[in-house]
Amino acid sequence: MEYRVTSATVEQTRELGKQLGGYLRGGDVVALIGDLGAGKTAFAQGVGEAFCVKGPMTSPTFTLIHEYQGRISGSEMRLVHMDLYRLEHSEEAEVIGVEDAFQEDAVCLIEWPEIIEDYLPFDRLIVEIQGSGEQPREVIFRADDSAWVQRLKNMT
Ligand SMILES: Nc1ncnc2c1ncn2[C@@H]1O[C@H](COP(=O)(O)OP(=O)(O)O)[C@@H](O)[C@H]1O
Ligand SMILES: [Mg+2]
Repeated sequence: MEYRVTSATVEQTRELGKQLGGYLRGGDVVALIGDLGAGKTAFAQGVGEAFCVKGPMTSPTFTLIHEYQGRISGSEMRLVHMDLYRLEHSEEAEVIGVEDAFQEDAVCLIEWPEIIEDYLPFDRLIVEIQGSGEQPREVIFRADDSAWVQRLKNMT
């Protein structure tokens, strides 16, 4: 199942992230796909707004993982934001502890998830952002897992 929406501005992309954030719950993994400058981090910041994350959510370009304490529906929730662009080998995923983020007490957003494909849970949501520069973006929400397909239908 696939759902597409156009985003003309960075604010709209952030808003889409915020809207999605309202539906996320512990254990969710969201793979953010798109070129450099597509808007993956902007989208993640919108999710952070929905989680009432305090302080700026910056790109984990060099640290690979940033973790925030968020709140969703009145409960504490870890929000883990990864950017794996600089990860060279999938085995490093274990070293940096990606699987610690795939727990029920965390929601995990992953930019450049391709390299850890083998570690990703099947029940993930894919958000692909097409376009870059000042072009409008095409934001595609995609799910293969049946529970996610149902959830996407409820969201749209
Ligand atoms: N419609 C749009 N959606 C998202 N970002 C946009 C859009 N239009 C322009 N931009 C710009 O593109 C850049 C996206 O940066 P960023 O979110 O860091 O991308 P990524 O994390 O995918 O590399 C920002 O400078 C933002 O202002
Ligand atoms: Mg980024």
